[in-house]
Amino acid sequence: MNPSITTIEDLRRIARRRVPRMFYDYCDSGSWTESTYRANESDFGRIQFRQRVAVDMTDRSLATTMVGQPVAMPLALAPTGMTGMQHADGEILAARAAEAAGVPFTLSTMSICSIEDVAGAVSKPFWFQLYFMRDRSFNDKLIDRAAAAGCSALVLTLDLQILGQRHKDIRNGLSAPPRLTPSTTIDLLTKPRWCWGMMRTKRRTFRNIVGHVEGVQDTRSITAWTSQQFDPRLDWDDVARIRDRWKGPLILKGILDVEDAVRAVGTGAEALIVSNHGGRQLDGAPSSIAVLPEIADAVGSRIEVLMDGGVRSGQDVLKAVALGAKGVFIGRPFLYGLGAGGEAGVTRCLDIIRKELDMTMALCGHRNILDIDRTILRRSDNAA
Ligand code: FNR
Repeated sequence: MNPSITTIEDLRRIARRRVPRMFYDYCDSGSWTESTYRANESDFGRIQFRQRVAVDMTDRSLATTMVGQPVAMPLALAPTGMTGMQHADGEILAARAAEAAGVPFTLSTMSICSIEDVAGAVSKPFWFQLYFMRDRSFNDKLIDRAAAAGCSALVLTLDLQILGQRHKDIRNGLSAPPRLTPSTTIDLLTKPRWCWGMMRTKRRTFRNIVGHVEGVQDTRSITAWTSQQFDPRLDWDDVARIRDRWKGPLILKGILDVEDAVRAVGTGAEALIVSNHGGRQLDGAPSSIAVLPEIADAVGSRIEVLMDGGVRSGQDVLKAVALGAKGVFIGRPFLYGLGAGGEAGVTRCLDIIRKELDMTMALCGHRNILDIDRTILRRSDNAA
């Protein structure tokens, strides 16, 4: 990739040019007014570091663990639906880049490539994210398929019992593959790289689902099926049942409130993710970084606390770790990388963040990520 691409914003701008409008907008949007989506990013900007000088900065280490598994830096790729629409075979390419960088990749239930497609393309275990569906036998089968594929953690998403409304998706008539209208056709003609990639892959629809549910064989039937499958009745008893079935580490995603964090501890899950789904569900909810300290203080000694939402740099990763996260997930940043340059774009995204994280830690006067706590932040920013 061009060496002048040095920020996540650079990757975003290129992705915007290369990915069809419908799929770029799907990635780069939040629900309703997008106020929570914006706050996720802007609230990081309010936190300041303490600059320390004249400390030895040699031999630095970013290595740590997430749910007991070694990671090269405190970061994982978040589960994102339709990743294979940002770039052909997107899930496979992102999983490969994550594996090479030594960080976990999380495959979404709503991915284009299937669990088995990804397992066949990487050599180390990845993580699987489950949406809880009305069809309990489908949930059980997905959990069993993830276990059979060697997935080393299950991420259970709790904040999507009903689907938040994103105006752009409605306006664009979002569908995978895209429905050909005069405007989508014109758009596709201006995105030759994307079209060429799609022509060369057979993976163009939701392969975790199509062929695994009776009667769901194509794009039209899957849209009808999924629209009535997210289960609005999901409750803590269901979480307990998933806990019983999945024998590996369980991570509960979408916790934004201390009372829910306490309930999460009671399930016996290994970790929770402080998350508002990247501002795609409850618009008007606080940013993840704003509530992270209070949740970490309340339950951090009893469950591993992870976070996502608005992480756009290594500085943001360091701020989240300082405020109590054992690690963070990134969603849009790696999708921008994928849209901009496939596997190399995801690798560049991870390189950018790693470098920023390493240098920022050093300039705060630390050499080991395991030593990071709130004392690296200015006093006004480190109170819970
Ligand atoms: C998501 N997210 C998500 N979460 C989940 O549990 N399952 C999913 O299938 C998806 N799909 C999805 C698609 C797209 C395009 C985005 C941007 C996000 C939410 C995701 O896991 C994560 O919580 C956010 O992306 C984190 O915020 P940032 O890093 O995108 O700001």
